[in-house]
Amino acid sequence: MARYNSNQQVGTALAAIILAAGLGTRMRSAQAKVLHALGGEPIIARTTRAIAALGPRPLVVVVGHQAREVEAAARRASPHADFRFTIQEHIRGTGDAARSAMAAIPKSFDGDVLIAYGDMPRVRIDTLRAFLSEHRRRGAALSLISVTLDDPAEYGRVVRDAAGAVDAIVEAKDASPAQRAIREINTGFYLASRRFLDAALAEITPENAAREYYLTDLVAIARARGAKVEAWLSDAPAEFAGINSRKELAEMEAEIRQAVNAKLMAAGVTLVDPATAYIGEQVEVRADCVIGPNVQVLGKSRIGAGVRIEGTAWLRDVTIGDRCHLKLGVRAEECVIGPDCEIGPFANLRAGTELEGQNRIGNFVETKKARIGRGTKASHLSYLGDAIIGRETNVGCGVITVNYDGYDKHQTQIGDRCMVGCDTQLVAPVKVGNDVYVAAGTTILRDVADGALAMSHHPQRLKAGWTAGWHKRHQGRDRDGKSAAGTEED
Ligand code: UD1
Ligand code: CA
Repeated sequence: MARYNSNQQVGTALAAIILAAGLGTRMRSAQAKVLHALGGEPIIARTTRAIAALGPRPLVVVVGHQAREVEAAARRASPHADFRFTIQEHIRGTGDAARSAMAAIPKSFDGDVLIAYGDMPRVRIDTLRAFLSEHRRRGAALSLISVTLDDPAEYGRVVRDAAGAVDAIVEAKDASPAQRAIREINTGFYLASRRFLDAALAEITPENAAREYYLTDLVAIARARGAKVEAWLSDAPAEFAGINSRKELAEMEAEIRQAVNAKLMAAGVTLVDPATAYIGEQVEVRADCVIGPNVQVLGKSRIGAGVRIEGTAWLRDVTIGDRCHLKLGVRAEECVIGPDCEIGPFANLRAGTELEGQNRIGNFVETKKARIGRGTKASHLSYLGDAIIGRETNVGCGVITVNYDGYDKHQTQIGDRCMVGCDTQLVAPVKVGNDVYVAAGTTILRDVADGALAMSHHPQRLKAGWTAGWHKRHQGRDRDGKSAAGTEED
């Protein structure tokens, strides 16, 4: 094991801790703060991604409120991170949370530990890299990132001594009026050696206004031991804004959205109304797309070149091929849409929909786990679930795959170049071959061979002149059951 050496840049191991156990009282929510959505994903996902990019081993996340959900969100954000999750049983403060995390770092680990708060989702990976190398270069026992704010609000104040050395962090609620006037604040990113942390965390006591174990007391503890503390003053305060309230969440959402939109527009995407374009940071949009008003594109969606989205759409984790046209009112989730498709207006493409390309999915069509071949169309009022449909097939108006028997879902297969007549029901499991014609109004119960015509019509009967006789039998009454005199019939 390499002994810790402040000049040693390469080879010093790094572990990291993210504190995310709190409920976030100021959010006034039953949901843990770090699970609230920001830019289309939980707050914790963004924090985790930035820190995981440094490659810490391990990356310990302290969880408490909604522990399972927070863990799942972190894992989803950084599937390759070397995670450990520890539960903080009682939310007794950031110092207590950090102490519980240290127990999850193997005894043999003797490197540096980065500690961060889960509610700081805007920090950039380059900033953290610079912080790490600066900490190692300066050889401090403890480093933290500070910023200067015009309004230091409720952040912890960085108190310096006469020589300008960092002396303490004082929480706003514990600060004297003079300390409250200090504009340099603690962002909540710390670096120290494992050895320092093991010793110093044990000394934190809850002697303060909040009766909490403050992680920030590490600074005074280091000073009392005569150890060097460095505050690395960053010039990018926006990166370190913490989210404590719904108002701060909404403000950050707007900032992120503006930044994403500006980047997209610079890259050749038209946003008809940027104020109502809600596009996640992980989304890729190619040049010459036109995105209309009131559109949400979330998750890991990819939108090809020249795609037109008319407006009022909700898209998550979708891949949309070049030149597709999404008409007003499309909802699509976990779908792959090939090039040159025309979708909507008012279409619902659910998870597992795969369109090969040149497809038309028209108004009031719902698809789910449906693999649809090139050129196939379903233009109106259909449900296509658990279906495999070939190429160049026409699915008529009102066609329904009857996929559910109350216990299991069953599959429908339809071949290439079929004409499936209007109002057909296909009772799955069932297979329709290639080049099949299905007459309108048919209920398909059994497989249909290639090239056949399927129909289940009763012969149509006719009674000439019947209508006139019907009205005659009802003479004196109007059609809603009232007598012509206006009195209710029984
Ligand atoms: C903290 C700092 C403050 C700093 C600010 C930066 C302390 C005492 N104060 O204040 O100096 O300016 O962040 O944003 O650290 N958490 C736990 N367990 C707990 C308490 C908190 O896991 O027992 C987690 C929370 O879930 C949250 C993070 O730690 O993600 C920070 O806690 P929060 O209450 O938001 O601290 P602040 O009051 O913002
Ligand atoms: Ca906070």
